[in-house]
Amino acid sequence: MDSKTKTLNEKLEQSRLGGGQARIDKQHQKKKLIARERVLYLLDENSFEEIGALVTHRTTDFGMDKQKIYGDGVVTGYGTVNGRLIYVFAQDFTVFGGSLSETHAEKICKIMDMAVNVGAPIIGLNDSGGARIQEGVRSLGGYADIFYRNVQASGVIPQISAIMGPCAGGAVYSPAMTDFTLMVQNTSYMFVTGPNVVKTVTNEEVTSEELGGASVHSTKSGVAHLTSSNDVEALEDIKRLLSYLPQNNREKAIDIPFELKDEVRENLSDIVPENPNKPYDMQQVIEGIIDEDSFYEIHKDFAENIIVGFARLGGKSVGVVANQPMFLAGVLDVNSSTKAARFVRFCDAFNIPLLVLEDVPGFLPGTDQEWNAIITNGAKLLYAFSEATVPRITVITRKAYGGAYDVMNSKHIGADMNFAWPNAEIAVMGAKGAAEIIFKREISSSDDPEEKWKEKEAEYAELFANPYSAAERGFVDEVILPKNTRRKLIKAFSMLENKEVNRPKRKHGNIPL
Ligand code: HXC
Repeated sequence: MDSKTKTLNEKLEQSRLGGGQARIDKQHQKKKLIARERVLYLLDENSFEEIGALVTHRTTDFGMDKQKIYGDGVVTGYGTVNGRLIYVFAQDFTVFGGSLSETHAEKICKIMDMAVNVGAPIIGLNDSGGARIQEGVRSLGGYADIFYRNVQASGVIPQISAIMGPCAGGAVYSPAMTDFTLMVQNTSYMFVTGPNVVKTVTNEEVTSEELGGASVHSTKSGVAHLTSSNDVEALEDIKRLLSYLPQNNREKAIDIPFELKDEVRENLSDIVPENPNKPYDMQQVIEGIIDEDSFYEIHKDFAENIIVGFARLGGKSVGVVANQPMFLAGVLDVNSSTKAARFVRFCDAFNIPLLVLEDVPGFLPGTDQEWNAIITNGAKLLYAFSEATVPRITVITRKAYGGAYDVMNSKHIGADMNFAWPNAEIAVMGAKGAAEIIFKREISSSDDPEEKWKEKEAEYAELFANPYSAAERGFVDEVILPKNTRRKLIKAFSMLENKEVNRPKRKHGNIPL
């Protein structure tokens, strides 16, 4: 070995933290990690194999030829998480601010191509000042090369982005095109134009955190699907998320061994209040049905009137979509529709069956919703369910009203099984409003309009505020007791396991965007 190679090897060995697994002590756990620590923490011990550690940039402008750093600001390679192969890149902010040069982009593209060809998830740990300013259009081209690959990989392999530092300008569009974006609280931000540009253009004074911090993107914009309080938690979140997913779109998620027992859950009987206008927490229904502690909620703080997340049912991975009566009575609105539609499409692309828990009084009325295109956005969810070919089961726990009944995975749009609890109400609208419209003349000409209205409301409720009209027509397959829901679902999903649907050939559908 010549002396140059020896020195190089020594340098590489040092930068790899001694070549072993990053040991993150308790105090360090809450701090920002460096790129290589992040990769080593994410992967199983001694599983990381680096690719392109000796790559340097090719720029000679601005004296850059004298500043070459091996790796060029990004650590790339492969390894395993819980024994399963993944590809990973981690931008290194300590090298040119993690900025993306032509070669930095080439390294990322190389492992993206491998990930698609082999069929394994790709994880991006983003921490970058954006396009390498010294490289001009070459770095912009590098971004576009990544964006193009994000799209080609979409629906083929799971793509996960963690934002662990700055992510600004056009750089945000790669995470935006991946399946899940995680952000670390207080240390990460994402925006297309930063506070300085905002000030110049709109005269608005805003900090990076206010403009594009984790809390903004997890509550207001919905850009972040998960937020973590520090780097270590974010890496743990990625590992947990991966555990519910298959490696690619040709495979199914892995099963956890499970033995069917009686699966009766008495506690499900007391959750829905007798008064139909009283809210209850749908999270309790989810917890009561799924395998213990298996729910992993996505988009938790955004559009809280709908809950989405992964769970295990009888040891198998399922995607849960559930109206939440605790927020806005569980209505569908612009944000909840797009949130759920995106989740449904992910599950469908990756062979994850869908469980829908329905208690929906309808779509949210008002100018705000109409002007923000509830028509187009509500249609997204309708479209997403209608095109999904994975096993799909709905349980109506209480209300299923109006267009929202159709949208929330009804049998008419391809649900395989539809169960209802005995107190379910399935109708065009609530009994009070319905009576007011269809018995308007009778009520107004009555001696006691108030009393007449009540009488007609009861008449309508008797006819429709139950699941039996729907069951008579087969729109509901079975009315079940809440305590038997878990057992019914495990058996029904198992029955549907080999479901296969062939659609007519087409280039792609035209989801209402
Ligand atoms: C080259 C960069 C860089 C960049 C940072 N550095 N960003 N080098 N290109 N884009 C370097 C700095 O020169 C510095 O080098 C080191 O990284 C650390 O940066 P600091 O500014 O000292 O760090 P900090 O104070 O933490 O600020 C971080 C920052 C800031 C907010 C990200 O660096 C910044 O605003 N950078 C520019 C961001 C930007 O405008 N990027 C282009 C976005 S447009 P030294 O040698 O001093 O340590 C874009 C287009 C993409 O990305 C289009 C895709 C379609």
